[in-house]
Amino acid sequence: MSHPKRKLFVTLSILPFIVGAFLLLSLWTPVSGSEHHTLIRSSCSSTLYPDVCFSAISSSSVPSWEMKTPKDVIRVALEHTVLSTQHNYFNIKKKLASRALLTVRERTALHDCLNMVDQSLDELRATLHDLQDYPNTNRSIAQYADDLQTLLSAAMTNQESCLDGFSHDRGDKKVRQSLLTGQMHVFRMCSNSLAMIKNMTDTDMAERRSILEIKEHKLPGRELGAEEEGNTRGWPKWLSAGNRRLLQATTVTPDITVAADGSGNYRTVAAAVAAAPEGSTRRFIIRIKAGVYRENVEIPKKKTNLMFVGDGRTTTIITGSRNVVDGSTTFNSATVERKKNLK
Ligand SMILES: *[C@@H]1O[C@H](CO)[C@@H](O)[C@H](O)[C@H]1NC(C)=O
Ligand SMILES: *[C@@H]1O[C@H](CO)[C@@H](O)[C@H](O)[C@H]1NC(C)=O
Repeated sequence: MSHPKRKLFVTLSILPFIVGAFLLLSLWTPVSGSEHHTLIRSSCSSTLYPDVCFSAISSSSVPSWEMKTPKDVIRVALEHTVLSTQHNYFNIKKKLASRALLTVRERTALHDCLNMVDQSLDELRATLHDLQDYPNTNRSIAQYADDLQTLLSAAMTNQESCLDGFSHDRGDKKVRQSLLTGQMHVFRMCSNSLAMIKNMTDTDMAERRSILEIKEHKLPGRELGAEEEGNTRGWPKWLSAGNRRLLQATTVTPDITVAADGSGNYRTVAAAVAAAPEGSTRRFIIRIKAGVYRENVEIPKKKTNLMFVGDGRTTTIITGSRNVVDGSTTFNSATVERKKNLK
């Protein structure tokens, strides 16, 4: 008779542990799960398309508990965007391979799209690479913000430019329609990543600034030293209001400028492209001043890391005779980044 009692006793003495373990599990799992979803939600809340953002990131193969910082969330968003862009690329390629029912114009526009999507892939990968580096003391946070935003704005613009190639006449609309969902998804995801990156770099800059302000208050006699330290890291002087504004501004410094009126280094985009280095590992920025450029711009793939900065969609216009003759789209495989997007 003593055996069943002992069994019961043993069971009873283990029971609290089992119950405890269950309680812990039932409490722990959902709390930590939703906590990590909270990070995704709060990251996405600073974007223009929060629902697209949240569903893309939470459906990623990366489990949400592995995303511990806003930077992790942005990385996952960008990886998702790369996959979507690859999907679009193969979709366009497939359309080109099927010989059915494409006009010359549609074929040309699809080719241009393919180039732009390819370029976007390079830009997205470069963004991921830069993000992985961040924050490294080689570049100031403001410089990172600038570089990352420039790359993503360019990738974003390409999605629109691809679709713009089809909007000229009604016949094209069917092809445009078939690309629309994929292109718009990448466009929105680029916009979302842009917003999250801006939030992250703004937050980090504000933090650094407040750390420096505290330092400054404690060591009023070391103003010059603090400035020198700032300058060697490539940071602007922190504490004057003017420089603070400078710090927050996201202006791109071009390597060369094209101006139709002769006020730049070159008068034509083609001449600027010819002057750009081949196989550059550093971004080479060509600013195209407002004006109308009647030329066809072909960018050889060897000209890596080339970036075009327009003065705005309506003020910098590139039109080539090919547009009229065989229906080429406005800007073949290039990236015109609009400053207005850098917000
Ligand atoms: C930072 O700069 C140093 C010297 O300029 C260079 O050797 C190093 O490779 C740079 N690091 C990164 C991550 O760019
Ligand atoms: C970043 O996003 C969070 C969540 O939307 C917001 O509360 C915070 O103010 C943002 N920070 C900056 C610097 O924009």
